[in-house]
Amino acid sequence: MKELRFFGRRKGKAIKQSKQQLIDYLLPRLTPVLPKAGEQFDMTHFFGIQPQEIWLEVGFGGGEHVAELAKKYPNIGIIGAEPFINGVASLLAHLNGSHEKATTHTDLEEGRVDNVRIWPDDVRDMFPFFPDKLFKRIFVLYPDPWPKARHAERRFINQANLIHLNRLLADDGQIFVATDVAPYAEWAIEQVALNGMFEQVNADTAQPPIDWVPTRYEKKGIEAGRKPIYLVFAKKSMK
Ligand SMILES: C[S@@+](CC[C@H](N)C(=O)[O-])C[C@H]1O[C@@H](n2cnc3c(N)ncnc32)[C@H](O)[C@@H]1O
Repeated sequence: MKELRFFGRRKGKAIKQSKQQLIDYLLPRLTPVLPKAGEQFDMTHFFGIQPQEIWLEVGFGGGEHVAELAKKYPNIGIIGAEPFINGVASLLAHLNGSHEKATTHTDLEEGRVDNVRIWPDDVRDMFPFFPDKLFKRIFVLYPDPWPKARHAERRFINQANLIHLNRLLADDGQIFVATDVAPYAEWAIEQVALNGMFEQVNADTAQPPIDWVPTRYEKKGIEAGRKPIYLVFAKKSMK
């Protein structure tokens, strides 16, 4: 497999001991093991439940959005990918809830179902191992904008990733992109048009989609006076 280079941060401030314990004990239980080259994940035993649908969140940051969706939709299996280990630790703390202070445990918060899997790395590593049309929803929320033109190829919504996302999205699935960087939204729309296999299905990009759960980044942006832009894409129908 071609080596993919990740350009974001992998580590921030020191992780406190209770979160480190979650990384040591809970994370291995929730991290899928990559199959051998040429094989795909066995989705029947992927989650601790038999999910009605599977959703993907790319770059979950502190994981609040994944954790909240997973609680709100206990019958949905959610895969979250994030290489920033402090963010992974934060998601684990959200999933683990009041058990945070326990030591060598692999517990989820009481009452929470086992419907989240975490890839603590670049989501692109997983793409070849997912079966076609796996995801009903794919979330790319506040992706790093990489504003300099010379970094444009680092922007997540790009031609290479759109080809993967098209293969992985269910025929009636949707991709949700949110950003508060207007040039990034324009870029994403251009990239999707260039790809030619999706259509934008929301008319009012200032209006959050139904049942929208804001991310931490979104809340901070709104407080700071930035305006979210929501883009929802579906596969073009093949009629
Ligand atoms: C600006 S942050 C937004 C975090 C979160 N979605 C939110 O809205 O609060 C973008 C995140 O995407 C992650 N990211 C960037 N490229 C990624 C990739 N290829 N796979 C997984 N995560 C990625 C970064 O590590 C970073 O945490």
